[in-house]
Amino acid sequence: MKYNKIKNIFLKFFKKKKHKIFKSSSIINKNKKNIKLMFINSGINQFLDYFSKKKKKYNKIANIQKCIRITGKNNDLNMVGYDNLHHTMFEMMGNWSFGSYSQEKAIKLAWELITKKYKISKKKIYVTIFKGDKKNNLDFDYKSYNTWKKLINKNNILFFGIKHNFWKIDNFNFCGPSTEIHIDIRKYNKKNILGKLLVNKNNNSIIELWNIVNIKYLIKNNIIYKNKNLLSDKYIDTGMGFERLCMIIQNKQSTYETDIFLPIIKKIEKILYIKYGINNKTDIVIKIISDHIRSIFFSILDGIKPNNKKNGYIIRKLIRRSLIYSYKYLFIKKPFLYKILPTLFKLYYNNYYYDNNKYYFLLKKNIKILKNEENKFFLFLKKNYLIVKKILLKKNKKKKIKIDKKIIYNIFDTYGIYYFLIKKICLKYNIKIINFNKINNKIIEL
Ligand code: ALA
Repeated sequence: MKYNKIKNIFLKFFKKKKHKIFKSSSIINKNKKNIKLMFINSGINQFLDYFSKKKKKYNKIANIQKCIRITGKNNDLNMVGYDNLHHTMFEMMGNWSFGSYSQEKAIKLAWELITKKYKISKKKIYVTIFKGDKKNNLDFDYKSYNTWKKLINKNNILFFGIKHNFWKIDNFNFCGPSTEIHIDIRKYNKKNILGKLLVNKNNNSIIELWNIVNIKYLIKNNIIYKNKNLLSDKYIDTGMGFERLCMIIQNKQSTYETDIFLPIIKKIEKILYIKYGINNKTDIVIKIISDHIRSIFFSILDGIKPNNKKNGYIIRKLIRRSLIYSYKYLFIKKPFLYKILPTLFKLYYNNYYYDNNKYYFLLKKNIKILKNEENKFFLFLKKNYLIVKKILLKKNKKKKIKIDKKIIYNIFDTYGIYYFLIKKICLKYNIKIINFNKINNKIIEL
């Protein structure tokens, strides 16, 4: 099943169930009154007002939302590229009840969609339930348990605490216990290890797919308390990772092998004359580029310019991260990210209702901004590499020097020159590096 069909089935399903279908909001968080995040990090962000307002225009909503999770509480950046699942940018499919239905109905809707429409085998499904938390005075989630009991084999129901089954956007907002749907995507080894032993164990073959949250609490300064504005337990916030759903339905072991990532990877292969799937190190780089370019693309599209401020800085960091990984491992020393953008436009054009006339204009503008930023970075690297080289050689001339952790950090901090480039200078000019094996900082270590 192709990615567009997967999206259409979701929207059609909830439309039929009388949900109002919303468009994705911008990926930039513009409503700082509700939530302090720089980027939208889940589908619920644009509906936070619905929780506090007594009167609502719609009490059942669904959408597919562009999200970025690289700042704040939900930050996946360090995992990106190193596993097959985590992304800085992803699309969240969600449905909401604002006083219309409770956890029971939400679970039944999710079950119907994934087993009947997407035809995911019941045997592969595990669900997790909030077991309660004494310290915070939170109860066991009986409602979810009683519902799941009727739908799924009891052996496939698992219980977890606040770490896994309690969702909050940030530390000052609505929150609540959640029940999660996990899918076993293993092709082999199934008989040796029971799937239930791998749930929530950071295992790439049991995938957390859908989170169904009953928003009934508020959190402020780490204190969780009952939300008096919510008169019933019929406030539901759900989120399903679209990329993961594609991976499951398309029977892949990695999101990067689905038809939303493959065209991007193919384009990278073509531009950089490399091949995905033959070397672990270069695969990590290709995954990082194909992940970061999506965040970069949507952010620039929604109005962010790479610079030194707030979300502009985050995007600058992603651009530089992609370029420096490519520099080190693929020996690419010139701008190339901008060349991937037309592929992204093609992939997402129909999904976000862009206006036809604006479309090519935006593509051109995006390319210009990104190319410019890439050029700037290489100029910056070239200039500062020479400065660092000069400084080191001057010092070394007076008296043979040794470079240690502190100096390496200092150089990176002041001149933005990465360890592998410092090492290059040192090797060439016979400067000794000492005590630099114990640090754990991917960027500098690179
Ligand atoms: N807002 C919930 C999440 O992001 C559904 O997991």
